[in-house]
Amino acid sequence: MNKALILAGGLGKRMNSPKPKVLHEVLGKPLINWVIDAAKLAGADEIGVVVGHSAEDIYPFLKDVKIFVQKEQLGTADAVKSALPFLDGRILVLYGDMPLIPASTLRKLFDSDADLTILTASLPNPFGYGRVLRKGGKIEKIVEEADATDEIKAIKEVNSGVYAFNSKALLYALERIKNDNKKGEYYLTDSIEILTKSDFKVETIETPDPGTVVGVNTQRELSVLIRRARETINFALMDSGVTIEDPDTTFIGPDAKIEPGVIVKPFTFIYGKTEILSGSTIGPYTTILDCKIGSKSAVISSDCNGAVVGENCSIGPFSRLRPGTIIENNVKVGNYVEVKNSHLFSNVKAQHLTYLGDATIGENTNIGAGTITCNYDGVKKNQTFIGKNAFIGSNTALVAPVKIGDNAFVGAGSTITEDVPPNALALGRSRQVNKEDWVLKKRRESDEK
Ligand code: UD1
Ligand code: CA
Repeated sequence: MNKALILAGGLGKRMNSPKPKVLHEVLGKPLINWVIDAAKLAGADEIGVVVGHSAEDIYPFLKDVKIFVQKEQLGTADAVKSALPFLDGRILVLYGDMPLIPASTLRKLFDSDADLTILTASLPNPFGYGRVLRKGGKIEKIVEEADATDEIKAIKEVNSGVYAFNSKALLYALERIKNDNKKGEYYLTDSIEILTKSDFKVETIETPDPGTVVGVNTQRELSVLIRRARETINFALMDSGVTIEDPDTTFIGPDAKIEPGVIVKPFTFIYGKTEILSGSTIGPYTTILDCKIGSKSAVISSDCNGAVVGENCSIGPFSRLRPGTIIENNVKVGNYVEVKNSHLFSNVKAQHLTYLGDATIGENTNIGAGTITCNYDGVKKNQTFIGKNAFIGSNTALVAPVKIGDNAFVGAGSTITEDVPPNALALGRSRQVNKEDWVLKKRRESDEK
């Protein structure tokens, strides 16, 4: 059985942030979820996560994993120890602060067959990392930055923080690791010296791509990783046939799927499990999270979250689509229009200054400027149903729950509190009164005073 144990118990002191380190995001996705997903993709049958500091904040981000709590943060070996019941078979140990580790690298470690295989990297600036000490070419031990002499600090080969253990060797080492070092911590890295001395088979694999194993310890390092991840994703998308006009201002998350033939304009963020089909144009100035956008649609200067949009639609500029929104084909949602938890069928037009919440709107219906579904009565949310081919005049308030039938016509400025039957005209406003010469009379009165 292939297991992966991810250590995320540390405070992340050097981040200087009240937020747990592993919840900081790279392209909309927390560090810990990058690592969990890489382990999954590498074929881990089971994944364990060790949490400690701010554990409750991290729980909501942990799905389909076993959680272990490290009570006190006594070092990386102590963290592994807090997951003792998890430790059998082949165990990949990795840290929750190295988001860019590729699944292909993890797979190589799963496939290695030594008692301990360590992933190393050669870094031009190895500051902060554990250095790899070799004797006759073979790894002998790892020395942490804090404990290193100047001579050791000059070594460029470092411990990436990814290890594949056979569980017997891991348990053997854990029993023997002491905390007699500068930091007074139980270092997992001491297992290398312990196991080589006791004739276990210890090997290394050097990553060909050192940039993928860098960890996040500071806010500056986080920003470097974000840039790196952004370039990797954008370049791969461009190579596949997506047009990204300005990759420097385009942020696309690792789980977004964008088809060749999509055009992404500057200052655009595409995050979460978003899917965008061919021929669509996204941006400029657009944020999309967890949406599906059909082919040949355009989304301009808008904020879309949890919405499904069909083909040939036009969204924006300045539209807001909120979760639960389903928009079918050839729909126009225009400036200052907010849609929440609503279903707009084909050819609906809502082009200006409108709020549609908890509504169903039939095909070919036109929603006039300033239409509001009054869906909230102060206690609960209520539904608005509008049929096909209906016309809702400008500045109409539809007080839900309410139904407007097919082909119905609602006069501008109406407040609709009762259902409107199909084919009817509804006027929910007071009649206009014109008072002839009222202005002239008023002037005369004031002149006489
Ligand atoms: C560690 C390695 C170092 C390696 C570097 C790679 C050790 C002793 N050192 O150093 O050799 O070059 O990573 O990035 O392992 N954690 C816990 N509980 C603890 C302490 C840490 O769960 O008590 C977790 C942290 O949340 C973090 C990971 O372990 O995700 C690594 O801890 P960190 O403090 O970042 O280790 P480094 O000093 O970077
Ligand atoms: Ca680290």
